[in-house]
Order: sequence, then structure tokens, then C-alpha cells
Amino acid sequence: MSYLTHLQCTTCGTRLPADRPQINSCADGGILEARYDLDQIRRDVPRGSIETGPSSLWRYGALLPIDDLSNRVSLSEGWTPMLPASALAATVGCSSLFIKDEGRNPSGTFKDRGAAVAVTRMRELGVTTVAHNSSGNAAASWGMYAARAGLRCVNLVPDDVLPSSLQQSVLAGAQTIMLTDEWRFGGALIADAVKSHGWFNIGTLKEPYRLEGKKTMGYEICEQLGWKLPDAVVYPTGGGLGAIAIYKGFRELMALGWIEEGPLPKLIVSQYEGCAPIVRAFQQGKDKAETWETLDVLPGGLKSTTPPGDRAVLEILRNTGGSAYTATNDEAIDAATQFVRMEGVFPCPESATTLVALKKALADGTLDGDATVILLSTGSGLKSVDVFPTPEVAKTDANTPLAPR
Ligand SMILES: Cc1ncc(COP(=O)(O)O)c(C=O)c1O
Repeated sequence: MSYLTHLQCTTCGTRLPADRPQINSCADGGILEARYDLDQIRRDVPRGSIETGPSSLWRYGALLPIDDLSNRVSLSEGWTPMLPASALAATVGCSSLFIKDEGRNPSGTFKDRGAAVAVTRMRELGVTTVAHNSSGNAAASWGMYAARAGLRCVNLVPDDVLPSSLQQSVLAGAQTIMLTDEWRFGGALIADAVKSHGWFNIGTLKEPYRLEGKKTMGYEICEQLGWKLPDAVVYPTGGGLGAIAIYKGFRELMALGWIEEGPLPKLIVSQYEGCAPIVRAFQQGKDKAETWETLDVLPGGLKSTTPPGDRAVLEILRNTGGSAYTATNDEAIDAATQFVRMEGVFPCPESATTLVALKKALADGTLDGDATVILLSTGSGLKSVDVFPTPEVAKTDANTPLAPR
């Protein structure tokens, strides 16, 4: 049984029934959100029962939009470690720093949270083919979960897609199509195709359930801190879905009384300098982002030139006193190296942009050194090994004794 009651647009307030597939059609940039009977959950589900649940995002089953949890499509996603990062903290001048290591998810990125919950819900609702344009990580993830669920999946990917994501998508049997044109045309191509072929569009914020999977990052952050909010969350932002979802998670826990009422953590957003529509809009004091014209980013995620979640992310930034920063491609690679050297966590370069942003937020006073800060490492560096410079290594033959460096 599910506590899901209906779907509701955050801007125009339109309510839609949740017992059939629904697509967001708000003209004002609103988000079609899943709403629950939180009062009933508060009465039925003690917080302590969560702690004895599965070591995956399904521990929050009561807060997910699934009619029958035994039908879940799972590869054991979520409940990723939140690792204290004391060496990095000392270097940047921050007393309490954690890395939420989403690279531990089955396909190597946080995208698995959205795919697991949305694929499960879509199968319950009778959807048979899902389709989207994805810079690659979501394509990989949806390919794998659709394979497990027995759904058909269509992935439109850019021509610089990471080889890891391409392999995952193709090997999983997803219909995988590479766009040889500019990436910004992908959304319209998929929009036409879903109309023509009756596919279901699972693009960022087109439907409500990917968000429901990703909000569990917010639940986990609080639970792993002993049911407390951190002071700040640093998130590498593309379309905006992950950041929006984390804050939905925080708000729901507060509404349930599972964490104390209080101000939400500051949101710090990081984007590549070569695709920074949200940073630009934030700096210009705008409430929506203009399309970013010339994409110059490393292969991988953070390629959203027209982020669908722009308004909601900008609102969270302003309401929480947060800020938004860019990282160059080189800064991202350097920061990823610093992550691995100092903490032993190998992040993808997209994730390492958070470290660049953290340093800038500490330097300009947006964050105090005594804040408890969470860096979201949204993907594993193993997905991006081709993006890092080829390492120079010493070589030897079998007759030469090895010497210390
Ligand atoms: C590794 C990684 N991190 C972060 C993001 C940002 O996604 P979103 O802002 O939609 O949560 C993406 C997708 O572009 C990604 O692939």
C-alpha cells in the first residue's frame, strides 16, 4: 500500500491523479510533485522502524510512490556511505566535511536512485517503453534498470558520451542512438519521438518519479547525521533534479517531525564554466536561466544548456542563503585528484566541481569554517577514466630490483 495521494504542480497548483502515467505540462516552469498523506505516515510509521530497514533506499519504502514494494526493481541502490573527509576539511579550512559517495550505486552514479523508483512505478502503471535524451549517466542507469524490469528503453546520447555509459546502455539492450548534431537539439527530438511512437518521456522533470527516487539522498544525509540537517549541501548541478529532490526530502522529513524544524541547509551549486546557466542566472539576480549557447565541458554529465529545474534551484539558492560557482575543466580534474589523494574517494570530474565551489564559498564568506558541509559525489571516477590525463608511470623489467620512489 502507498501513502501517495496525488500529483501537484508547484507553480499553478494543478492536481492530477497518480493512478496513471502523467507528464508535466505546466507552462510556467512548475514541477509536478508527488504528494503523500504525511499525517497518516506520521501515525503509522515510527522513525525508528526506518533504521532497521534494508541497506538501500527502499528503507524509506513508506515515503515512496509504490503500490506494492514487493514489486520493486532493485539492484540495491542508495544507502551510500557518508564519509568523513577530515584531510580535505583541514586543507580547505572547514571543521566538519563529509563526502556522500554516490559512486557506490550499481551503475556508478546517483542516477540509479531515480531509475529504480521510477522504473518500478512505471511498471506498476503499465508503461512499456521509456525514452529520454541523456548525456550518458542516466542512459546507462535506465538501460540497466529497464533491462531488469523487462521494459524497453530508448537512450538518445551525445556524440562525446562516456564509453562506460555507452557500453552500459548498449549491453543492457537499450535502443541507443547517438546525436551527431548539437546536444541542445536532443530534447526536441525525443519530444517528437515520444508523440509519434507512444513512448513515455522520462527526461528530467518531465515525469514525477525520478525525483522521488533522488529525494532519498536528502533522507539519507539526515539519517546518517543522526536525524539532523547539515549546514550546507554542495551539489554539482545540471538539469537541477538532484538538488530539488534533496530539498524535497529535507522538507518532508521536517513535515513528518523526524528532524527538527529550522532553516534548510545552504545550497551551494557547482557547474562547469563552459555550461553554467544556473550560476549566471544566480549572479545576475534572475529567477530563471537563459539557454547556454556554447557548450565546453568534459565528457559526462552537467551538459544541461536549458536546465528544466532552473527556477526551483534558483529559489532554493536564494531561500537558503546559498550560492553558485563555476569550475573550469582543469580545476575539476585537479580537484578530483585532490579527492583521491586526500580521501581515497575517486569521484568523476563533475562531482569534483563541488570541491572547487566549496573553496570559493569559504573564501567569500558564504560558508563559515565551522559549518557541517556535505559534498555530493554524484558519480564514480571509474565511469570517467578516459577523461583523466593518461597517467605517467615508471616501467621496469623483471630483472631490475624495485626501489622506493
Ligand atoms: C555525475 C552527474 N552529476 C550530477 C549531474 C547533475 O544532474 P541534476 O542536476 O539533474 O541532478 C549529472 C547529470 O547531468 C551527472 O551525470
